[in-house]
Amino acid sequence: MNKVEISTPGKLMLFGEHAVVYGRPCIVTAVDQRIKVAIEEMGNQSVILNAPEVQIENLDLKLKNNDLNQIPKGAKFIAAALNNFCAEYHLEKGLKIVTKSDFSSKFGFGSSSAVTVGVIKGLAEIKKVKLSNKQLFELAYKSVLDVQGVGSGFDLAAAIWGGTLYFVTGGKQIKPLRVNNLPLVVGYTGIKADTATWVRFVAERKVKFPVLVNDIFDTMEKLVELARKALENEDWDSLGELMDINQGLLESLGVSTLKLTELIHTSRLSGAWGSKLSGAGGGDCMLALTDKAKTVEKAIIEKGGQIIYAKTNAQGARME
Ligand code: PMV
Repeated sequence: MNKVEISTPGKLMLFGEHAVVYGRPCIVTAVDQRIKVAIEEMGNQSVILNAPEVQIENLDLKLKNNDLNQIPKGAKFIAAALNNFCAEYHLEKGLKIVTKSDFSSKFGFGSSSAVTVGVIKGLAEIKKVKLSNKQLFELAYKSVLDVQGVGSGFDLAAAIWGGTLYFVTGGKQIKPLRVNNLPLVVGYTGIKADTATWVRFVAERKVKFPVLVNDIFDTMEKLVELARKALENEDWDSLGELMDINQGLLESLGVSTLKLTELIHTSRLSGAWGSKLSGAGGGDCMLALTDKAKTVEKAIIEKGGQIIYAKTNAQGARME
């Protein structure tokens, strides 16, 4: 029986969130917490899915034409990935798919995107078709848009290429940056945020104040270019300051929360070079750039945050 196992990394958004939904660049890094997707061919035409981290047990799916409205939330991305892969490449046999994650889907580490990439890459291995990274990205991006309608695809790029990437909306540019592991502390707020909700929130603010919000995005674009240089030069002082400025812009978009702001300020007061939220906002994680990790971690914990130990610049999708 044909069996494959693929692993893909989670991600952290470093700079440029939200602006990247509107044609601007961002910087994302892959983290060493991974999702594994095991796919095994079976005799019949059905697909059995087990994804314990999102409470999916022995769910029956079809190889193609799954109606996403009828599929439980935790399985939608996998169903969309099957739909899109099997629309292009015919699979004859049924499948058993099992996912296993190093991290909670609540952290905002991009588990849905990582799993989508893992499934498509696994299906390609089963079918023995050679997909380039860009083809894998296109199929995965279509799948994500089928499920949530919005998104830049930055998290898919991190899951596929790994490392630290300069990324422009929809994969128009995907450039690996020359960086090492970053001196970051990651704090989880304890609150799971829904990305689509916060993308819609910003879209509404943009409709109400188009000039202001476009100017914020333009500033973010300039900030990302400066951050790219500071990152490659390991100029932590400047990079930290740019994180603070990025956080200020995200505050103006209205996506930070009291908890995020508290954890960010406590990190700065404990000596971090800089600190910001990571991702859509509304909860999930914040980042602090610091060489005083222990002090900053302690301060975050005292304010009710949870430390997530993750190394950046991790390897992209791979066969296990
Ligand atoms: O919340 P996350 O980690 O999925 O990040 C969302 C980042 C956004 O720029 C707000 C949306 C996107 O798809 O780029």
